[in-house]
Amino acid sequence: MKMIFLGPPGAGKGTLADLAVDLLKIPHISTGDLFRAAVKEGSPLGLKVKDILASGGLVPDALTIEIVRERLGKSDCQKGWILDGFPRTIPQAEALEALEPADKAVNFHVADEVVIGRLSTRRVCRACGKIYNVRNMKPKVEGVCDACGGEVYTRDDDKEPSIKTRLDNYNKQTAPLIDWFGAKGKLVTIDGVGEPALVLERFKAALGIK
Ligand code: AP5
Ligand code: MG
Repeated sequence: MKMIFLGPPGAGKGTLADLAVDLLKIPHISTGDLFRAAVKEGSPLGLKVKDILASGGLVPDALTIEIVRERLGKSDCQKGWILDGFPRTIPQAEALEALEPADKAVNFHVADEVVIGRLSTRRVCRACGKIYNVRNMKPKVEGVCDACGGEVYTRDDDKEPSIKTRLDNYNKQTAPLIDWFGAKGKLVTIDGVGEPALVLERFKAALGIK
């Protein structure tokens, strides 16, 4: 199964993708994670995108499409994939359709006021990317990742005004993809509010996954 996870920042795309890959045994490809890894390495790509990510802006389409093209060419993608955070613009969606069309676009519906609350309380492991929340999904030891012992930190873009910029960009550039995938008959919309385990059950039911 080739799947796109759509939804505003903080909708729970990364959280759900981590649960879904355990079930589906296909890779979770997050363009945000790929860019953050490049920033951490200090690679030429990382130097190009560091300030864009911190401000909440979008990386240029050509660069983003090239990163995804390379990643989808790897051997672990043969049985399918979950693309989280890509496409985010119509040109990116057109490029993916030409390269390797997705079977489904799963749209996680969550209201703006809920995502703002989630983002301002999110924490992430700097080493493995595991996602936490200081309200309801805390690591066992404060500041330390349960999975790998890495440092749990606040993403640079989970601060004002970046959260607002990301939501504005989502509404202007990414939300039109909901109708775009709808017109192709590929759209599945899921209510993203509720415990992650409940959202996972909705996801499985909507896609006919046992
Ligand atoms: P990216 O990393 O993709 O960020 P995003 O789209 O803003 O999405 P988030 O990761 O913030 O949210 P999420 O939906 O994954 O939520 P999460 O599961 O963490 O992109 C970062 C940046 O990279 C972009 O701003 C851009 O600069 C660049 N970029 C990436 N892709 C690009 C592209 N295609 N084109 C151009 N630029 C690109 O959950 C959030 C919080 O809520 C967590 O604390 C979690 O614990 C909690 N939570 C999750 N689910 C629930 C639930 N059901 N109930 C309660 N809390 C929950
Ligand atoms: Mg994410």
